[in-house]
Amino acid sequence: EKGGYDYFMLKEIAEQPKAVADTLLGRIDAGGSLTLDEVRISASELREMDKVVIVACGTAFHAGLIAKYAIEHWTRIPCEVELASEFRYRDPILDAQTLVIAISQSGETMDTLMALRHAREQGSKVLAICNTNGSTIPRESDAVLYTHAGPEVAVASTKAFLTQLVACYLVALYLGQVRGTKWGDEIQDVIRDLSRIADSVERVLETMEPVRELARSLADKNTVLFLGRHVGYPVALEGALKLKELAYMHAEGFAAGELKHGPIALIDEDLPVVVVVPSPRGRSILHDKIVSNIQEIRARGARTIVIAEEGDEAVVPYADHLIRIPATPTLLQPLVATVPLQVFACELATARGNEVDQPRNLAKSVTVE
Ligand code: F6R
Repeated sequence: EKGGYDYFMLKEIAEQPKAVADTLLGRIDAGGSLTLDEVRISASELREMDKVVIVACGTAFHAGLIAKYAIEHWTRIPCEVELASEFRYRDPILDAQTLVIAISQSGETMDTLMALRHAREQGSKVLAICNTNGSTIPRESDAVLYTHAGPEVAVASTKAFLTQLVACYLVALYLGQVRGTKWGDEIQDVIRDLSRIADSVERVLETMEPVRELARSLADKNTVLFLGRHVGYPVALEGALKLKELAYMHAEGFAAGELKHGPIALIDEDLPVVVVVPSPRGRSILHDKIVSNIQEIRARGARTIVIAEEGDEAVVPYADHLIRIPATPTLLQPLVATVPLQVFACELATARGNEVDQPRNLAKSVTVE
């Protein structure tokens, strides 16, 4: 049932182009507008919303962090993202004009369920983004947008994460569509790029052998740091989480701009530092800043592992290892940039002799608070 792969995780990583395409299927019409029939919150209700709050745990939380950038940029509605386990304990400000989005692969995560119950008690509408039909979270929500990743067996979330991102982009675009905000050329371009993104994910998968080799060469390290900016920051957090849970290594993700506020003191000779580089096209200021971050850490002897777009030549002089990803619009880049980090963690776990599908101390769905 592993389809010829040694682990479910490898199979699920390989299934990502299909999972992404399936999650988009039937949701974008020929004219480039979105139809999200399952979202049973009416267009007029959505127009009234003045705030979006996303609650989730772990990898799903990282999807939520990325969604914030897309929602605020495309719809201009303020969006907060909160760990579900923290949410209800701080007496959050919620009302009927707050759209709460609960993201969960399993649909059974207790922290997320308790957060959505709390939100509904305060009169907010809850939209679930979920991969498991008929599970508790969508049943208790006002509406659901299902991700179509298919069953995810490996404990570490991979294809579910990519489809959560797709669902978040769809919700953001849909909110933009019904509210008429920024519904211009940029949005049409994004929809076109999104409908081609599965091919880019496929292309990343075809070039992963050097990443595996690199991972094996780092099997005796104790720490790996991950840096990113903008949507690359949650990607860095996700890369670090995957490495912790699979390779049992110390890993941390930082916003690259925070380096000089403390973490740069950690940089040591030969310390592997993975840097997720935003597209040099588009918001090039982001790109230039991260190139100087790479220079700074390299000057202190770190071993730089750089994930950058094809054709981005500016990073070449500072990269000890260069991982290329296809050119992708900034906000969508996490869909391609996360994949090498999944492969990296999976291969490091294997090299260290760990059980990839079933990491120690972890359960696939966490049904206790
Ligand atoms: C990490 C991972 C976990 C889950 C988290 C939420 O690889 O799988 O961090 O993302 O436990 O689970 P769901 O999405 O089922 O609510």
